[in-house]
Amino acid sequence: MKILVTGGAGFIGSHYVRSLLQGRFPGGEGAEVTVLDKLTYAGNLANLDPVKDDPRLRVVVGDIVDAETVDPLVDWADHVVHFAAETHVDRSLQAAGEFIQTDVFGTFVLLEAARRAPRLRRFIQISTDEVYGSVPEGASVETDELRPRNPYSASKAAADRLAYSYWASYQVPVIVTRASNNYGPNQFPEKVIPLFITNLIEGHTVPLYGDGLNVRDWLHVDDHCRAVDMVIERGIEGEVYNIGGGNEVRNVDLTHRLLELLGAGSDMIQPVADRVGHDRRYALDTSKLRRLGWEPEVAFDEGLARTVAWYRENGWWWRPIKEQDPAFRAYYDAQYGSRTR
Ligand code: NAD
Ligand code: DAU
Repeated sequence: MKILVTGGAGFIGSHYVRSLLQGRFPGGEGAEVTVLDKLTYAGNLANLDPVKDDPRLRVVVGDIVDAETVDPLVDWADHVVHFAAETHVDRSLQAAGEFIQTDVFGTFVLLEAARRAPRLRRFIQISTDEVYGSVPEGASVETDELRPRNPYSASKAAADRLAYSYWASYQVPVIVTRASNNYGPNQFPEKVIPLFITNLIEGHTVPLYGDGLNVRDWLHVDDHCRAVDMVIERGIEGEVYNIGGGNEVRNVDLTHRLLELLGAGSDMIQPVADRVGHDRRYALDTSKLRRLGWEPEVAFDEGLARTVAWYRENGWWWRPIKEQDPAFRAYYDAQYGSRTR
């Protein structure tokens, strides 16, 4: 089985590739994997270190907007699992152009290649729960209206529906997944959990947006990867599957859990101005996926403690980004500088 994984050097994509090659999915033994990744600031080949010498892995450094790169790789594949994207909401609020380029146009280039691909059996469009917009109560089901409210989620909603349209119009074997907030090792330290953990390890305060009462549903990255595998095995073309961890937590409560795990006091919380248009709550109804036989396995408290331990033990992975990379410093200053004053 030949699998093209776009964005395979990023957080979730690299966990997915490692799971495939380390035989953690039933039927994954025969997998040959090609990663296509542009290695943006968020891509890191070190994420693939545990499998880098595996002869079944090929890494192509390239851009999904480039049809000359994309076409032969999609032609080769039985399955495309499309993770590649610009992913950080705050960056999309600073500058949205790359989000439109990669998340929308890049997806279009992949879908055009998929239309012509001779052997393609699955095209998994990795979407997000953010496409539903803020959910004041209840839980989103797959047929709900999409109401994205920031440039990142709007780009992802466009890609989500574009992928669907290639199934409806051209029978490209598309399945869309919409996952909730992921956490775990190897997540770039701009997202709230790794940012707060690494700030606390460094002895810095943590910038909590607004009143801290926004709610996210936390999903361990390994549970997300198992769900993607399940959808490839048992999902139905043209359908959408929500993937949620069932761990709804307010940001302020998440912050206190992290403070406790890292032995810090609440004086380390720095309240800062809110994210503009900040979605209050996301929540997913995952019964459709559960009917396929999936359920999350990682308890949030345990997964969070393991994640903290990973960042404590792997300073080599994140310290160069936070402490030596001028691009990260510039991002951090632009993002937080004026809000903390
Ligand atoms: P990430 O930012 O850690 O990694 C993205 C990867 O895509 C990087 O390796 C980057 O180099 C690559 N990439 C970016 N632009 C590219 C381009 N033009 N061509 C080729 N490669 C490119 O992201 P992540 O958190 O692992 O998210 C992966 C996918 O899952 C995304 O589609 C995201 O929207 C979706 N998702 C993420 C979450 C989450 O909580 N992280 C939740 C739901 C859905
Ligand atoms: O819901 C799925 C989405 O989850 C994915 O599609 C996105 O790719 C991923 O980035 C994530 O988006 P969020 O905006 O929810 O994640 P983030 O980690 O940026 O923020 C989580 C919550 O924490 C959110 O309510 C904002 C808050 N926050 C975030 C940062 C970075 C803070 O309070 N302070 C911060 O410094």
